[in-house]
Amino acid sequence: MSAPLFSFTGVTGGYGATTVVRAVDGAVEAGEACCVLGRNGVGKTTLMRLLTGHLPLQAGAATFGGRSMDGLAPDERHGLGMVYCPQDRPVFDNLSVRENLTLMASADTDRYAPLLAAFPILEDRMAQSAGTLSGGERKILSFVRGAAEAGQLLLLDEPSEGVQQENVERMAAFLHEGKAAGRALLIVEQNLAFALEIADRVIVMDHGEVVLAGNAADMTEATLAAHMHV
Ligand SMILES: Nc1ncnc2c1ncn2[C@@H]1O[C@H](COP(=O)(O)OP(=O)(O)O)[C@@H](O)[C@H]1O
Ligand SMILES: [Mg+2]
Repeated sequence: MSAPLFSFTGVTGGYGATTVVRAVDGAVEAGEACCVLGRNGVGKTTLMRLLTGHLPLQAGAATFGGRSMDGLAPDERHGLGMVYCPQDRPVFDNLSVRENLTLMASADTDRYAPLLAAFPILEDRMAQSAGTLSGGERKILSFVRGAAEAGQLLLLDEPSEGVQQENVERMAAFLHEGKAAGRALLIVEQNLAFALEIADRVIVMDHGEVVLAGNAADMTEATLAAHMHV
C-alpha cells in the first residue's frame, strides 16, 4: 500500500510552553476529504497551525507527498502545494478583492472564472477593499483564492463560518470537484451536515485530543454530536 498524500502522527503543540494539541494522528489520501470536528476551543485551529508550520511541533511528525515537513516554514509548504485558508483574518482587509485574488499568483484571473460565476457577490465588488466585505463574504473570498490554487492539499479552517446556506452548498460542490480532480482536503468544521456531505474520514477532537476517528460513512450526525459534547 502506498503512503497517504498527507499524514501526521503524534502531533503535539501549542503556544510557548503551553500544550494545546496532544498526540493527534491523521491522514488524507489524494481525492479524499478529512473533516476535523469539535466544539469551540478544543484545539482545531491550533492543529491547523501546527500542520501548516505556523506553530512549531513540540512532538510528532507530518509527511506530505512522501516528504517530511520537519522544519519547513509555511511558505515552503505552500510552495510544495499545501494551500491554507485560515479561520481568522482569512484575507488582506486593506487590499481590494481583485488584489487579494492576484497577489500570490499571476494577474490572470481566468482560473477564477467558474468560482466567480458561482459567487457573483465577489465579482460585483472586485475594486472594493476586502475590509468592506461581511465576515461570510471574506470567507468566500478566501475560499475562492484557495480553491483556485494548483496545490494538491487544501486545508480549510471553518470555511462555512458566517456564510449563507446557498453559498455553503456552492462551496461543497467545488470541494467535490476538487476531490474528483485528485485533491486532498483537510477541513475544520462546526457545521455537521456540511462536514458529512464532504468527508470521507472524520476526526473529532476534545480538549486537544482525538476522541473519535474513522470513516465518515460509518458515522451519523447523532454519533458525532454525542462525541462533541463529552
Ligand atoms: N494565539 C494564542 N495564544 C495562546 N493561546 C491560544 C491562542 N490561540 C488559541 N489559544 C488557546 O488554545 C486553545 C484552543 O484554541 P483553538 O485552537 O483556536 O480552538 P478551536 O479552533 O477548536 O476553537 C484555547 O484554549 C485557546 O484559548
Ligand atoms: Mg478554530
